[in-house]
Amino acid sequence: MLIRKGTDIKSSDITDEPCYLRRREFIQLATGAMIGALAAGTAEAQTPLPNIAKHTVTTDEKVNSFQEITSYNNYYEFGIGKNDPQRYAGKLTTSPWTVKIDGACAKPADYHLEDLIKPFELEERIYRHRCVEAWSMVIPWVGIPLASVVKRAEPTSKATFVEFTTVLRPKEMPGLASGGLNWPYTEGLRMDEAMHPLTLLAVGLYGNTLMNQNGAPIRLVIPWKYGFKGAKSIVRIRFVEKMPRTSWVEQNPDWYGFYSNVNPNVSPVRWDQSREKRLPGLFATRKTLMFNGYADQVQSMYAGMDLKRYY
Ligand code: MTE
Repeated sequence: MLIRKGTDIKSSDITDEPCYLRRREFIQLATGAMIGALAAGTAEAQTPLPNIAKHTVTTDEKVNSFQEITSYNNYYEFGIGKNDPQRYAGKLTTSPWTVKIDGACAKPADYHLEDLIKPFELEERIYRHRCVEAWSMVIPWVGIPLASVVKRAEPTSKATFVEFTTVLRPKEMPGLASGGLNWPYTEGLRMDEAMHPLTLLAVGLYGNTLMNQNGAPIRLVIPWKYGFKGAKSIVRIRFVEKMPRTSWVEQNPDWYGFYSNVNPNVSPVRWDQSREKRLPGLFATRKTLMFNGYADQVQSMYAGMDLKRYY
């Protein structure tokens, strides 16, 4: 089993990040401010997320530093350079924030972010994060299982896939002008993938609310898939019958598949997927693991599927 209860492991064993240790002290002092914290979250003023109920560590590898995780990003609405999101995403207003849940479900609703999260316990999950561009990191996310939100919506038998739409604000997003993708950025998961316990709706990083460049105020994290499946700044979650057309598949279906499971044996895009560069390193010296190291937990969902065809 890759997943171990984080409570068995001291944070000092897994990271030497000083912010992280300070954050632990902060949590002990803070009292029930989670809701306010989410409401106030902006890139400039990251707010602590107290009351994190559970800590799960899925790898013994060193956790990347806050600086590494927040300065090398893909968020094309803010530009194509890896540092553009850090430079420009501060413009995005993340409060108030509403997420629409609709489509094939019994309980569609528009939720204020705080109400979307409130009934569920926040969890920290330390996950490997593997980009299709063959770089990787280890990231301490904070969030809630997507499954909790899905169950509450009571999807009908027609709900076979879940589509995610992210925010589109031309006035706040300078990268939109340079084109590239069919905006708004959309992603999708099959229902069993959405319900999988590893799939997280992240609202935090290193114990605080997310930085805008990482997808504030709420994003997807699916650790066995390439990073682009992790839609940032989600505004709509829709249950649908047919496989959604996602932004990347529309852009280039030969390069990007709907499933996009990390697979060292299939390299349909221009980057060799058999190896990866662990940031801040410079070279792709690390072997990529099947399903990014989460095979024992997810491979049964793909039993009998030709993963070369359905990449
Ligand atoms: N979400 C939106 N809205 N826009 C984007 O451009 N980029 C994706 C994904 N989510 C993207 C997005 C890609 S290509 C990757 S690799 C991951 O976000 C990067 O997440 P990170 O910057 O937190 O590492």
